[in-house]
Formats: sequence, structure tokens, C-alpha cells
Amino acid sequence: MTVGEALDAATDYLAAHGVERPRLDAELLLARSLGLTRLDLYTQHDRPLTVAERAAAREPVRRRGTREPLAYVLGDWGFRRLTLRTDRRALVPRPETESVVDRCLALLDGSVQPRVIDVGTGTGAIALALADELPGARVVATDASADALALARENAELLDLAVELREGDLLAGAAGPFDLVVSNPPYVAERDAASLAPELAHEPRVALFAGVDGTDVLRAFAAQVRDVLAPNGAALVELDPAQADTVAAWFAAADLSDVQTHRDMAGRARVVAARRRE
Ligand SMILES: C[S@@+](CC[C@H](N)C(=O)[O-])C[C@H]1O[C@@H](n2cnc3c(N)ncnc32)[C@H](O)[C@@H]1O
Repeated sequence: MTVGEALDAATDYLAAHGVERPRLDAELLLARSLGLTRLDLYTQHDRPLTVAERAAAREPVRRRGTREPLAYVLGDWGFRRLTLRTDRRALVPRPETESVVDRCLALLDGSVQPRVIDVGTGTGAIALALADELPGARVVATDASADALALARENAELLDLAVELREGDLLAGAAGPFDLVVSNPPYVAERDAASLAPELAHEPRVALFAGVDGTDVLRAFAAQVRDVLAPNGAALVELDPAQADTVAAWFAAADLSDVQTHRDMAGRARVVAARRRE
């Protein structure tokens, strides 16, 4: 079997198992297994695979065929300027969360040494990106999951970024005050569980689901956040567009000001932010 034939076979296998972008995933998996770039797969199209190469290529494709997320099979995933270790201990960082970091940077504009906390840090994605892009910031990251925190710690060490990691429920024990409190909490509605992509079944439930309509953790966050904000400090959460109006109302009811909803490029409300004014 040649490199090209292996690529075609992997593509067909993934397509038959319902993978959304079978060619791209086959390229990424095969390139990683063979220690090649995606371009090499084409320049070496007619080269026969060795027995060892064939063996190495098989298992990652089989795993992806079970609809395990690509990021778990590869074992790492890009997030802004960082490459994060990714496995089933924590949610795969999503592209929309990269925009949340842009929002954080905009809200912190002008702060020289901001105090920041990322609540529900998972792989550490948001906290580590902020530590990377705002070298003066003092960044704390929390998670209720010991497994996720262990992965975040590994990522902080691998990337040599200073983030203080704490296990706990939301903001309990967070000393504050913070200039920014950011969270991408679990916000998937349990009533939607049956209609989700099979990949999500491989991710931790605690990272996804938050009650029947998905707002349980958002509601608790909105009730707690003002107490840990510095004067003029900002809070922001990622959420499902259907939850934006509700969360904006909860922020206002919690005596936060400047409540704003931010939309993604498709026009969907994905972030709600607010400030504490004295
Ligand atoms: C949607 S994931 C986000 C992970 C990461 N921030 C990201 O954007 O990729 C939500 C995270 O919140 C954590 N979590 C869930 N409930 C929590 C709670 N009550 N307190 C703290 N963390 C919680 C989960 O363990 C999970 O790591």
C-alpha cells in the first residue's frame, strides 16, 4: 500500500463512520502517524508504506472512526498562539473561545498588571492564552474537576506559563479582587443531549451540561461574580445564543453595569460582559 492509497482508505473509512471532514482528518492523522507534513503525503503519494508505518497509521484512524474528537486522538490542539495537550480529562478548546480571549483583551485595554481569573479552565486554554498575551497579568484558573486541573497544570508546565491553579466550585475561595473574571462554563442543555454530535459523548459531562436548559452554572456565576470584582472590573461569559438575554438580565440584577452582548461573525450572541461600577 502506498501513502496515497493509505490516505484514500483512511478517508473512506472516516466518511463511512460519519466524520464531518474525513479527508482533512485523514490527512492530519496520517501525517502525524508517519511523522510527515500534510504536503509530504502528496509529494510521497506513490511511496510504499513500510510494515511499521502501516501499523502506526491504523490505530489513530480507528479511534477517530469511533467519533473520538480529533484533538484527543492527536493529543494536542492549537489555541491562539499555543499548542495545548488535549485528552479526555477536559473539553477540547473551541474556535469560538479564541474570540472570548479577544474580548478579554479589549476589556482589559490599558491595564498594566491586571488580576485575572478563568473559572472552569479545562485544559487551561483561556488562562494560558491570557498569561501568554498579557505577560504582566496575574492569572488564576479554577476548575471543579481535578482531572481537568491536572491537565491544565501539565499545559502550564509544558508552555512555561505562570498560572495559579485552584480546585473548587466556581468562585468559592477565590480571594480577589479581580480586574477580569472570565468563564466558558458548561452551558449545554441536558434536554438537547440526544441531538448532539457523537464527539461530545467522549468529552467530560461536567464540562458540557448544566441542568435542563443549560443555565445552572451561568446562574450561579452571575450571582457570585460581583463580590470578587475590583471597582471597574469586568466579568464575561461564553454562552449559547439562546441564553444571552437571560444572563444579561441576571448580570443587571446583580448590580453590574455596562451589560453588553457580543455577537460572533455569524451574528449569534456568544458572549455577555458587564462591569462593576461603585
Ligand atoms: C465548557 S468547559 C470550558 C473549558 C475551557 N475553559 C475552555 O474554554 O476550553 C467548562 C469547564 O468548567 C468546569 N466546571 C463545571 N462546573 C464547574 C463549577 N461548578 N465550578 C468550577 N468549574 C466547573 C468543567 O470541569 C470544565 O472544565
